[in-house]
Amino acid sequence: MASSVCSPRHSLFLSSSTKSPLRDCPVRFPACNAFHSRRRLVSATRLKVSASSPAPAVDHSPSRAASRAPTVVEVDLGNRSYPIYIGSGLLDQPELLQRHIHGKRVIVVTNTTVAPLYLDKTVSALTDGNPNVSVESVILPDGEQFKNMENLMRIFDKSIESRLDRRCTFVALGGGVIGDMCGYAAASYLRGVNFIQIPTTVMAQVDSSVGGKTGINHPLGKNMIGAFYQPQCVLVDTDTLNTLPDRELASGLAEVIKYGLIRDAEFFEWQEKNMPSLLARDPSAFAYAIKRSCENKAEVVSLDEKESGLRATLNLGHTFGHAIETGVGYGQWLHGEAVAAGTVMAVDMSHHLGWIDDLLAQRVGNILKEAKLPNAPPKTMTVKMFKSIMAVDKKVADGRLRLILLKGPLGNCVFTGDYDKKALDETLNAFCKS
Ligand SMILES: NC(=O)c1ccc[n+]([C@@H]2O[C@H](COP(=O)([O-])OP(=O)(O)OC[C@H]3O[C@@H](n4cnc5c(N)ncnc54)[C@H](O)[C@@H]3O)[C@@H](O)[C@H]2O)c1
Ligand SMILES: [Zn+2]
Repeated sequence: MASSVCSPRHSLFLSSSTKSPLRDCPVRFPACNAFHSRRRLVSATRLKVSASSPAPAVDHSPSRAASRAPTVVEVDLGNRSYPIYIGSGLLDQPELLQRHIHGKRVIVVTNTTVAPLYLDKTVSALTDGNPNVSVESVILPDGEQFKNMENLMRIFDKSIESRLDRRCTFVALGGGVIGDMCGYAAASYLRGVNFIQIPTTVMAQVDSSVGGKTGINHPLGKNMIGAFYQPQCVLVDTDTLNTLPDRELASGLAEVIKYGLIRDAEFFEWQEKNMPSLLARDPSAFAYAIKRSCENKAEVVSLDEKESGLRATLNLGHTFGHAIETGVGYGQWLHGEAVAAGTVMAVDMSHHLGWIDDLLAQRVGNILKEAKLPNAPPKTMTVKMFKSIMAVDKKVADGRLRLILLKGPLGNCVFTGDYDKKALDETLNAFCKS
């Protein structure tokens, strides 16, 4: 079975070479052909410009804070392209949101935890200087267990009762649960209305709000019902992280670390040096980590929006991780915690296969430990549990489980079913009792 190879970031390759990008690009994906069209080259080069902007350990310059100019990362999807605004105090800049509101009606979807913290601020940002806009809100219960049809219907109930028309805008204010659910509501209400994401967790700011995957859970499986639906913009106000619990913050860092491992060695090295600043919630360090994560995700999504190959590499550690989430019961381990343990297992398997060296495996363990994330699955997980849960993973094709594994120097991975199964058994036996 052929494997898909994810190389270091395409844009680095392009800009550092004067040779033909087509000849030199080491990415062997069907999706990569699209990348070589003229348009894609231009946009990837533009992304590269911002991606390579200096990575100061931490920028404390007062002028930066005073100007409050957002960093902008563009997600390049043709006529569905959109900006991600990143910075401190962005909810105090009404013009950023208001330029993406088309009609006069807005509905903010949030939850019982986030509403008391940020709903008033968001309503002000939507209405200040713009009295023609009226804002409704739906405040849902907080938790993954509420990401379901019943709460989706509450959004529709409120929208229909309020007679929202096709020119209305749905605004998701919260973490990934609210973003996924509100996005799916926006995708299906009147067959699709304007949608804005205001992510307030690290997980949502670096991952779930970008790329257009929306949906809800079914009692028989997570994220089983949904749609690809892109927002008009994503507004990341890094100040919202000040109220986030430590455990949630660390959970999001698992996805930040993932980007470094699969495609951005330089970013991983920056994280190794700056993890203490991230854990201390240093705003400049966070702004940089979010920007760089969004750039990586935006680039992958631009190349492979509907996950025909490359986008699957964003799931490093997720196959083992989903097995842990399912095995221990949803809500016991946070998504990022399960992904962290899953990443250690995927790295261990890559090492058993001889695809990476000892040092890289150690560095992964060290950085996850430093980020206060788990380094192994819970003791209750058995080999049998992993095998039976992973057998129904979405990435099984022709009876073979395809995994994202590291291969080569830091920043390289493969998405493949072509591996010696003994290595998988060795990893499972190393981490589980039976
Ligand atoms: N669409 C995608 O591409 C994608 C990618 C990754 C994850 N997801 C989904 O995202 C969800 C997980 O997202 P999450 O980790 O953000 O969880 P979450 O949405 O449950 O948020 C975590 C907790 O933090 C609270 N919270 C949010 N913002 C806060 C703030 N600023 N201050 C204080 N508390 C705050 C929430 O109320 C919740 O209790 C899962 O449902 C997962 O399937 C989707
Ligand atoms: Zn994830």
